[in-house]
Amino acid sequence: MCGIVGYVGPRPSQDILLAGLARLEYRGYDSAGIAVIDESGDLGMRKKAGKLSVLRDSLGDATLAAGSTGIGHTRWATHGGPTDENAHPHLADDDKLAVIHNGIIENFAVLRDELLADGVAFLSETDTEVAAALLGREYRETGDLEKAFRNVVNRLEGAFTLLALHQDQPGLVVGARRNSPLVIGLGEGENFLGSDVAAFVEHTRNALAIGQDQIVSITPDAVTVTDFAGTPVEPEPFEVSWDAAAADKGGWSSFMAKEVSEQPEAIANTIRGRLQDGQVVIPELDGLDDLFVGINRVIITACGTASYAALVGKYAIEQWARVPVDVELAHEFRYRDPVIGDDTLVVSISQSGETMDTLMAVKYARERGARTLSICNTQGATIPRESDAVVYTHAGPEVAVASTKAFSAQITALLLLGLHMGRVRGTVADASTDVAELQALPDKIARVLNEEQEHVAQLARWMADTRSVLFLGRHVGYPIALEGALKLKEISYIHAEGFAAGELKHGPIALIEPGQPVFVLVPSPRHSALVHSKVVSNIQEIRARGARVIVVAEEGDAAVLPYADEVIHIPLAGAMFEPVLAVVPLQIFAMALATAKGLDVDQPRNLAKSVTVE
Ligand code: F6R
Repeated sequence: MCGIVGYVGPRPSQDILLAGLARLEYRGYDSAGIAVIDESGDLGMRKKAGKLSVLRDSLGDATLAAGSTGIGHTRWATHGGPTDENAHPHLADDDKLAVIHNGIIENFAVLRDELLADGVAFLSETDTEVAAALLGREYRETGDLEKAFRNVVNRLEGAFTLLALHQDQPGLVVGARRNSPLVIGLGEGENFLGSDVAAFVEHTRNALAIGQDQIVSITPDAVTVTDFAGTPVEPEPFEVSWDAAAADKGGWSSFMAKEVSEQPEAIANTIRGRLQDGQVVIPELDGLDDLFVGINRVIITACGTASYAALVGKYAIEQWARVPVDVELAHEFRYRDPVIGDDTLVVSISQSGETMDTLMAVKYARERGARTLSICNTQGATIPRESDAVVYTHAGPEVAVASTKAFSAQITALLLLGLHMGRVRGTVADASTDVAELQALPDKIARVLNEEQEHVAQLARWMADTRSVLFLGRHVGYPIALEGALKLKEISYIHAEGFAAGELKHGPIALIEPGQPVFVLVPSPRHSALVHSKVVSNIQEIRARGARVIVVAEEGDAAVLPYADEVIHIPLAGAMFEPVLAVVPLQIFAMALATAKGLDVDQPRNLAKSVTVE
């Protein structure tokens, strides 16, 4: 939610900033802008409503400023609509100072009134311009950007990452973060700031993580980090585990297509190093058995797609670790009075590691004394830093806004966690069958991709005019039905709903009319003949009312054939492992249908990838 990049060094910064913004555009694409201090000591700034391409077009071949100190921003609108005026950077101090911001400054109205009384005129509706004006005033008083910046951030409430530069202090970019992401990239004679490492991974893989309520100053040769009081702090170094090519489209038609196809690798990487002698042993959890022993409850908290992975995790952890598991949407969790304490393990799941709702749920859980563990795909992110332990998914960078490979990697991490917990708690004596299932997953996903991709894409093209699609599943198929519906609505803008198949007769069956397309996730009869037969009955019920039934079923399931208009096959897998396979055709379906409608599958309207506001 808003992408931020900063650069100081010997090279002209405009291209570096634009390339950084291109990699961050998934965080928001309502508008984009850059500010550069040029060689004559002036500040050049350009910002435009619309995607980054609009800014690029407006710049053409021209160099806005040849300077090598700059900041850039890609916006997901909060305060004020997506207009040129509301785009960042915002200028102050007679246009000598530029500020960019991610987050929401909650006390902006009070500050704005104070500045209006002081005679400041505002050009935009944003909270950011208030911070810029405040900084301008402080700078005039102190003549020192770092000092002025510290004074300002201490007056701000809410969540923010702020970057600023001033033309009187070329070669310096200052930044601060509170509940919003910011990482440092360390180069040779140059340094970078970014909302995440994608902003600078093309130039360096050496990074520093900045903690909460910290301020950073970068010059070409130095990086200084302090807390908001000005006390120096030591930032935590880390090396980015993927290179720039991993975040490129690499010849694919879209990032989403690339990421769907990368799932075998994402799963293999997530499993790697975590299996030992027929057991699951997650090295990051070494010495942390206390997290899992003596608990009487697990709460998994997450948002959106990650919350559907959490629902699969509930089934797996309950089955293997024999402890009750609840799944809580993170944005609901802390606004009631949940029963949690030191006997509760709160597991959070977040691809970005920055989702504000999830971060606040984790902080709340910690305040209440719960043990916390996060499942995350992004190194240096805030949520793992706020948790007692972290299990990383190694899906690689996910750029398309709609989550695909991160979702299957999250389920995989939850399966690993369930088996790890079961071993520690003594409820899983022999995991060899499940370990074999895990090892077989990457090849099985590759088979679904190879064998069903064209079939499903064709189906989607036939259905390009469809106005509504329903998804049904039972047991671990239920979360996949929810995920299938979410994928479709977010990128194709088609109405879609996912239901637990058994719930249908309690109301939603009224939606079924002749021709209504319904996807049904059919569990293997080998796992439970009873559950399978119930789903087949559900299919018959909707078929009798004219539904067009598209079944996702394991190879060889003959019982569904008489009732299905279309059958999509997935390879045989254990009950807990089926969701990782069954979701793949639903991702392909959503992607192909959106493409058939001529939509941008990577950047669907109104969305951003990393939702850093509540
Ligand atoms: C949907 C999607 C979102 C995210 C949700 C949480 O395709 O990607 O629903 O899953 O916003 O994001 P993370 O996992 O970054 O916390």
